[in-house]
Amino acid sequence: MSKKHAYEGKGLTVTFEAARCIHAAECVHGLPDVFDPQARPWVAPDAAAPEALEKVIEACPTGALRYRRADGEDEAPDTEATFSVVADGPLHARGDLHLTLPDGSTERLTRLALCRCGASANKPFCDNSHDEAGFRDNGGLGAESAKPVEEETAPPIKLRLRPDGPVVVEGNCTVRSADGATAHQGGQVALCRCGGSARKPYCDGSHKRNGFKAD
Ligand code: SF4
Ligand code: FES
Repeated sequence: MSKKHAYEGKGLTVTFEAARCIHAAECVHGLPDVFDPQARPWVAPDAAAPEALEKVIEACPTGALRYRRADGEDEAPDTEATFSVVADGPLHARGDLHLTLPDGSTERLTRLALCRCGASANKPFCDNSHDEAGFRDNGGLGAESAKPVEEETAPPIKLRLRPDGPVVVEGNCTVRSADGATAHQGGQVALCRCGGSARKPYCDGSHKRNGFKAD
């Protein structure tokens, strides 16, 4: 795990993991008095009410920002797990997510941005390399449309990285296109992270032909 900075406030302690921050919007625009990149420290947790701060942090799509309440409670995950495709960009995942990393460790996450262009230097997380790589995908779900959930599964959702291949999601989740259309998947779904699938966001086996390398 990359380095995390903690900013202690009376109501909330905010943590920030710079390596996962890719996107200058929700925090700085949502609460400019709290998140000021020009100030040191750049996060001032007591400059807003805890409820307002929680809301803005929960909108951080990458999970770079997280919080812990003064009573020791962490952010509660969304009850429904969702994987939302960003056109020409990553996959935003939300829910009670247990990600097994290549070193075998497991991280419990509520929000993360998964690389799907294959170019990130911080795989499986997005680092904005899709811009430089010229990754193009309209964010649609192709011929896939909403499917009934075959079997109800209880959270957490498990995310496993197949070496040189997709991320395999185990558990019920909703896959959402960039324009909000959804395809429900029960059980297991393999999501492309090499950028080469012809049926993005799903894996179609192209990683075997295009020489994708990832732990
Ligand atoms: S909302 Fe999250 S990803 Fe976006 S700039 Fe703030 S910390 Fe970074
Ligand atoms: S990971 Fe891209 S096709 Fe399998």
